[in-house]
Amino acid sequence: MNNTLVVVGAQWGDEGKGKITDFYARKADVVVRHQGGNNAGHTIVFDNRKFALQSIPSGIFNPHIKNVMANGMVINPVSLIEELERLHAAGITDYKLYISDRAACVMPYHRMLDGAYEQLKGGRSIGTTKKGIGPAYTDKYSRVGIRMGDLLDPEYFAERLHDALLQKNLELTSLGMEPCDFDTIYNEYLALGERLRPMICDTSVMLNEEYERGSKILFEGAQGVMLCIDHGTYPFVTSSSPTAASVPLNTGLAPRYVDRTIGVCKAYTTRVGEGPFPTELHDDTATYIRERGHEYGTVTGRPRRVGWFDAVVLSHARRVSGIDYIALMLFDVLTGLDKVRICTGYKLDGEHIERVPSTIDRLSRCQAEYIELPGWTEDITSARSFDELPENAKAYVRKIEELTGVEVAVVSVGPDREQTIVRRDIF
Ligand code: GDP
Ligand code: IMO
Ligand code: MG
Repeated sequence: MNNTLVVVGAQWGDEGKGKITDFYARKADVVVRHQGGNNAGHTIVFDNRKFALQSIPSGIFNPHIKNVMANGMVINPVSLIEELERLHAAGITDYKLYISDRAACVMPYHRMLDGAYEQLKGGRSIGTTKKGIGPAYTDKYSRVGIRMGDLLDPEYFAERLHDALLQKNLELTSLGMEPCDFDTIYNEYLALGERLRPMICDTSVMLNEEYERGSKILFEGAQGVMLCIDHGTYPFVTSSSPTAASVPLNTGLAPRYVDRTIGVCKAYTTRVGEGPFPTELHDDTATYIRERGHEYGTVTGRPRRVGWFDAVVLSHARRVSGIDYIALMLFDVLTGLDKVRICTGYKLDGEHIERVPSTIDRLSRCQAEYIELPGWTEDITSARSFDELPENAKAYVRKIEELTGVEVAVVSVGPDREQTIVRRDIF
């Protein structure tokens, strides 16, 4: 059966996962965000309207779709309610949203600690989104986390918050910050829980029932494989795993239910925040790509670092996550470049390698080795079939397939839902 499809970011995030999820959502019954939180920013453009979602799944615009925020997520209830209010203000009022009772809750002290840790690291900061993502996942694993379902039980929530604050207030004060007041947080979060109560449920049970009845389920990853806590450029990563492998754990569905994975990547590469980036450009080409691609963070507005397409990174993503197909995004941005380059390997201390080294020290010393292909000048934003693309553009896509060993099923030639070339129907 091909009833499930996982959307995985195959680079350092912002590859266009929102657009692809929204594109496939028209065929889905259920859309599931399975990890991360409001560090993500997923842009969706249709009918001349643009939306940026942070923690809400990208199926929210279709009233028939069941949207799930699964147990692997870290959810900030304050920002979730704000996000919902922004959707309401834009006229999106008819939707179905289900929040896992087991998802971790981002608390005010998580944000405070995220900022403080970054400051402590000084010149070696990660460049996090300061949304409290790392500290919330840390608490989950050190078993002092609060879960969304806890907010619905006043007595149990009091116990959990009491225990958490014992630890957290020690940390906050040792960092020179004010301790958090129990009553203030308790009352605020109980009230937030009440507002979200109608949506909080056991999403694993619901997803399994959906699967059994033959529903089509789309899993929307956040971030990208190179930001994965296990397989990314550690420590310059996020605190969860965006790989397809993490979907079963993050959702409470059996691994055998995961059918296919589409790796979403830009026709070049970007990265926000710090950390090694072998194909990074600092010249006029970087400026050209950044301006044409509007490469500024969806959440933070930070300019994104820009570089050439890296086939070593894609092969790494393919290996650690499993990628059956590629969605090649922002292809139109490369139009007008005289030559385009693809990184095929690295030179590390005089040796040729085609793998991503495990340490950032070694990755930072890697020099990208490129092949160069002729560019194209034709506007491709209205192309709707592969045949309509200029020969040089087609050759670029085929070269990516050859180097990664993965078929490019979708080519995206603009931000709008309609600006999409489908080469193979996969869902
Ligand atoms: P995500 O985090 O992976 O969902 O990606 P973001 O939304 O953060 O960043 C992708 C950006 O590229 C957004 O502004 C999209 O609207 C835009 N975008 C997506 N696909 C294309 C495309 O094919 N061409 C152009 N020009 N922009 C695109
Ligand atoms: P989407 O889903 C790009 C980056 C941050 C930082 C690192 C750790 O839109 O692709 P965190 O706040 O998660 O602890 O930050 O990860 N980062 C992203 N970069 N896209 C994202 O999400 C990101 N989410 C986190 O910039 O370098
Ligand atoms: Mg983004």
